[in-house]
Amino acid sequence: MTLRIALSTLFSLCLVLAACGADEPVAPSRPTASTIVSEALQGQVDQAVIDRGAGLYKTKKCFGCHLIKGGKPLIGPNLEGVGQRMTVAELEGWLRHPKQMKPRTLMPAFDGGDDELIAMIAWLRTL
Ligand code: HEC
Repeated sequence: MTLRIALSTLFSLCLVLAACGADEPVAPSRPTASTIVSEALQGQVDQAVIDRGAGLYKTKKCFGCHLIKGGKPLIGPNLEGVGQRMTVAELEGWLRHPKQMKPRTLMPAFDGGDDELIAMIAWLRTL
């Protein structure tokens, strides 16, 4: 709850700052992972990228806590339908900053690079 308030305050502050800075020239900013991810996932994504994400489910040990479908959930929820339930930004949030999504979660932060993160999210979106 406190986090929600903090986040919404931060968000409002950003809006205010954005509004005040409207006349300032906008300096090109270094792309954040978010920009990289959303740009990479625009339009049709190569099947090879999605397959790489499916492989990462095994190599990054997601299966230790998540089933994909069917069966009694393990430590985390089954991932079936997650691509319909969640936006790309939410999936990225869960992977990169799980404790920001839920402070006491057992979910560890994803330890891969941006290209692996993109593949992982591309695959999650197909579930
Ligand atoms: C140590 C256990 C653990 C591991 C390993 C883990 N997760 Fe999680 N994950 C969780 C838990 C627990 C949650 C649910 C949040 C909560 O209630 O704490 C979660 C939530 C999620 C969510 C949000 C799902 C929803 O329906 O709310 C996604 C997506 C996700 N994990 C993907 C992954 C992926 C992909 C990997 C591998 C890179 C992974 N997780 C590895 C424990 C884990």
